Amino acid sequence: MDFSVADLTLADRGRTEITLAEHEMPGLMAMRERFGDSKPLAGARIAGSLHMTVQTAVLIETLVDLGADVRWASCNIFSTQDEAAAAVVVGRTGTVEDPQGVPVFAWKGETLAEYWDLAEQILVWPNDETPNMILDDGGDATLLLHLGVEYEKAGAVPSPDTTDNAELKEVLRVLGRSLEVDPQRWTRIGNSVQGVTEETTTGVLRLYERFKEGSLLFPAINVNDSVTKSKFDNKYGCRHSLIDGINRATDVLIGGKVAVVCGYGDVGKGCADSLRGQGARVIITEIDPICALQAAMDGYQVARLDSVIEQADIVITATGNKDVVTAEQIGRMKHQAILGNIGHFDNEIDMAGLAATPGVTTKNVKPQVDLWTVPSGNTVIVLSEGRLLNLGNATGHPSFVMSNSFTNQVLAQIELFTKNEAYPVGVYTLPKHLDEEVARLHLDSLGVELTELSDDQASYLGIPVEGPYKSDHYRY
Ligand code: NAI
Repeated sequence: MDFSVADLTLADRGRTEITLAEHEMPGLMAMRERFGDSKPLAGARIAGSLHMTVQTAVLIETLVDLGADVRWASCNIFSTQDEAAAAVVVGRTGTVEDPQGVPVFAWKGETLAEYWDLAEQILVWPNDETPNMILDDGGDATLLLHLGVEYEKAGAVPSPDTTDNAELKEVLRVLGRSLEVDPQRWTRIGNSVQGVTEETTTGVLRLYERFKEGSLLFPAINVNDSVTKSKFDNKYGCRHSLIDGINRATDVLIGGKVAVVCGYGDVGKGCADSLRGQGARVIITEIDPICALQAAMDGYQVARLDSVIEQADIVITATGNKDVVTAEQIGRMKHQAILGNIGHFDNEIDMAGLAATPGVTTKNVKPQVDLWTVPSGNTVIVLSEGRLLNLGNATGHPSFVMSNSFTNQVLAQIELFTKNEAYPVGVYTLPKHLDEEVARLHLDSLGVELTELSDDQASYLGIPVEGPYKSDHYRY
């Protein structure tokens, strides 16, 4: 088995953590119980690109139990938990000397070049096999494949020197090398892939854009917009893991401090709630009047970043947008203020602009924590180099909330793989009854008693006793 992880001897610890996580992931365990015998994913060859954490290990092993062959990479250079990666490679029956699990290509602290080399590894399978499904988080695997197909059609890959974008440079390097080895590789993989299931807001945005411009190669299921994903993982997950990241990185008392959260979508709502829970005075920035009004009604001050940047002790970006905090604004921050991002990509904070500012110096405190001294003489504590801090400085969301997200992922993979003809190229969400089912699977372990509709009540509301209970346009 080919694989690339940091240290296989961490597998034992990883396995213990996975066993603890399984107990907290009732949705995934129910998938194993329900589909373990019928194996609806037999024949599926899944290329997975999603943070290689302990929770993801439970997802991977669930996909395997349902019959799939899997190759996995992380979707971020800092988010891998090396013990989880090792345990997945060793597998449930293997040993460090004789690994029997799943090929994983990920370690914590990859370089950008390594990241894109590893992304290639999950799409290019050994023995001329090709993946037929993608499970993506942020859309990087989908992007690499689409660009590969486009450049093969054009017969040439642009030189990496044609762009200043560091990510794109690496993508072009990988694809250029690949074209020399096999000029039809990506076209073959593109023809073989039946669909992608996408985890996050930012990846979903890319899919809808591709579909609109007519370049999407296969159908996609938008897992993010299952209610049991975005209204739980994005919100309650970030409520947990944002302050976990800040605490592990800095151990600065949050109570009494002024914290600015940029963006009051699902992620921003969870972040603001957790900072307020610690006693911070939270200020929100928003571009959308609806979300700005929501923030105001929830009791937060809503301001422009420019008006409050000098007051802030903590600034967190949660927008999925670019250039939300500029280098000039960082130059105005307080001494030892904390700056971090929890959105998917690292362009929310203009780190490149900061690095290019004359007179700026940096000092590393520990992995994923850097001091940036700006020309004012103040030092700003930057977390995870502007990449998502809850996975860079901590271990991401806890198992229970990820069980909701990943149960949606498993159902989406089954849906696209087994009913592929029902999905012409397009971007779809899972039907409401499956969304409600995911929630239902998580009630017992929290001791929730669900009230049952009587037949009379159901006919009064005009809905079936067994659901779905809400229309598709209901917003929760
Ligand atoms: P969302 O679309 O619900 O919220 C983003 C909000 O930011 C919107 O309300 C938008 O109006 C606002 N916004 C956009 N530009 C802005 C600007 N310049 N200044 C202030 N506000 C601005 O998206 P969601 O689901 O909250 O996701 C946000 C990001 O977090 C995405 O990149 C997503 O992929 C990522 N994400 C990260 C997770 C993590 O564990 N770190 C988990 C889930 C999502």
